[in-house]
Amino acid sequence: MLRSKIGGIGYYVPEKVVTNDDLTKVMDTSDEWIQERTGILERRYGKKHEETTTTMAARAAAVAIERAGIRKEDVDFIIFATLSPDFYFPGCGVLLQRELGITASEAGALDIRNQCSGFLYGISVADQFIRTGMYKNVLVVGSEMHSMGLDFSTSGRNVTVIFGDGAGAVLLQPTEEENKGILTTCLHSDGTYAEKLALINPGAHGGYHAKQLEEPVDYGYPDSKYGDMFVTQRMLDEGMLFPYMDGQFVFKMAVQKFPEVILEALGKAGLKKEDITMLIPHQANLRISQFVQRRLGLRDDQIWNNIQRFGNTTAASVPIALCEAYEAGAIKSGDLVCLAAFGSGFTWGAALLRW
Ligand code: ACO
Repeated sequence: MLRSKIGGIGYYVPEKVVTNDDLTKVMDTSDEWIQERTGILERRYGKKHEETTTTMAARAAAVAIERAGIRKEDVDFIIFATLSPDFYFPGCGVLLQRELGITASEAGALDIRNQCSGFLYGISVADQFIRTGMYKNVLVVGSEMHSMGLDFSTSGRNVTVIFGDGAGAVLLQPTEEENKGILTTCLHSDGTYAEKLALINPGAHGGYHAKQLEEPVDYGYPDSKYGDMFVTQRMLDEGMLFPYMDGQFVFKMAVQKFPEVILEALGKAGLKKEDITMLIPHQANLRISQFVQRRLGLRDDQIWNNIQRFGNTTAASVPIALCEAYEAGAIKSGDLVCLAAFGSGFTWGAALLRW
């Protein structure tokens, strides 16, 4: 049976380290608060004007491609997951293709807007393409330059302290080896609570405020010559251009959905939680990961956490953590690796891989 395996994997994080103490210089927060609530000690920020979501993705992708032992030109499809794209449009998929210098092949590029679960959705889509024989070298990337879109004033502190920049990539290839590669993927979503973790301005909604959902806000441009998707002075003045998160609500949903979807994937593959060698959870918050670890009865060496050093890198967090675990020798041939993510949308998913 044709399956997809990870032929190559890579990640990239920017050099600049931003500690919790660094953040206390610009907003009212503390190292103690951040560590206690999130487990984060530091995160990386990309270099403005030099690094972007796409350039970081290219660095990670180049490593994945090299490890897969193929030429860049052999990539026949690109899947790019991010919530912090370089441009509103076009998406980062084509920008990555250009950055890698592989436009001549005219390989397809697809952008995924599923935030924290974007990479999980990406490998699931790639897996279907490979299983049907449509593509042989699919590049799946998650990359985020969050530092460009955060509110560094005290009013943004509950969100800003959590996020960091970085990129991760895998090159998926077909394999006919018995019991190897992606065994199954499970994807879910529920749009009921879309605004609980969202960045809604500017948008085509015509006037909205994440914190006042019942009372749509008119930004004052119906009579102007501009459409409603443009940024207005009022949006700037009222700080409406930043992400909004109902942290406690997200926490409650995450600790419910993570174990649920992992157990679902195990059931689908005819496996049990005791079969998991390594869990790579989306690095949402160390407290969420520790809750999931306890629910599944996993030892400390069966879960990979790096949020302490990188913060939450959204679509990039799973491939970065997977790559780190692989490079550290914590994943070996034959191991059962479980990837899982939950985030904005809400969207969530899990994948089981036999390494
Ligand atoms: N520093 C200091 N104080 C802060 C900060 C900060 N960075 N942020 C918020 N506070 C204050 C608040 O103002 C509030 O003060 P008050 O009591 O005087 O009003 C107090 O801390 C408690 O605020 P809450 O928002 O209730 O804090 P909570 O205990 O819920 O912790 C957190 C916030 C860490 C975000 C938590 O809700 C959480 O872990 N949520 C899960 C969501 C998550 O992890 N999201 C990650 C991204 S989404 C994803 O990847 C799935």
